[in-house]
Amino acid sequence: MPNAELLDRDLILSQMDQLARKQVTELIVKASLDSTNSALQRLPVTQQSGTAILAELQTAGRGRRGRQWFSPKGGNLYMSLGWCFNKPLSELGCLPLVVALSAATALTRSGLRNHRIKWPNDLMVDGKKLCGCLVEIQGDARGPCHAVLGVGINIQMPSSEASSAIDQPWTDLQTWLPECSRNRLAALLLEELIARLSLFSDKGFTPFKNHWERMDGLKGRQVDVAAGLETLHGTVSGINDSGALLLDTGVETLSLHSGEVSIIPACSE
Ligand code: BTN
Repeated sequence: MPNAELLDRDLILSQMDQLARKQVTELIVKASLDSTNSALQRLPVTQQSGTAILAELQTAGRGRRGRQWFSPKGGNLYMSLGWCFNKPLSELGCLPLVVALSAATALTRSGLRNHRIKWPNDLMVDGKKLCGCLVEIQGDARGPCHAVLGVGINIQMPSSEASSAIDQPWTDLQTWLPECSRNRLAALLLEELIARLSLFSDKGFTPFKNHWERMDGLKGRQVDVAAGLETLHGTVSGINDSGALLLDTGVETLSLHSGEVSIIPACSE
């Protein structure tokens, strides 16, 4: 992929299925934004649901836990979609996992085979991060809730800049799929998000559990989990029905609803 194609609104729309075209009521493509999540959040809340925003570059891309998301120009995907849920906040805890499954499926449909999800919503290939998701929700505890679902996929990363800007192992899609089209991937991502968000609204996380198990990159792995002020150590045994990480410490199995997971490399790695 020597020269990445520019993002093209009409090309993205023309490659989306009918359902996604109907549900994505506004598709905005910008040359530059501070952050696609922030830009969506600046819209009146009534205009957010169904609006998707993409940018060629982000000057203040945001990651989880207040981190920066390195967002150089022209080669990666930075996208946010707004969605309204008629549900209480307490029922949206699995939403980050649903977004990760959507991104994973879009990548599978693009031809990628060796990616897995690192709970809650990092997509990894060969132990390196390919994609991150930032889910931000506002609204009444009893609902409705307005969610902004941000997805960043490294497609064609300038490697010398990235190596100094990113403080964890990373990879990009061109390493694994040299012929990937950004516009096609954006269309697939929107299709997969739209299909899953409606299902999640109706049926909760249960229909996604089997898929999660197939894509789970942590099951059976030894990990450290930074949760609050402590770091927990154990073996991941999966997730529970609310999407919490199950960590077997050798003494008990803990259900963790948040935390930063570091995988401990197996001896042979
Ligand atoms: C993470 O893994 O820390 C989450 C990264 C999320 C990055 C995406 S890029 C599009 C959207 N806009 C942002 O500012 N962040 C998300």
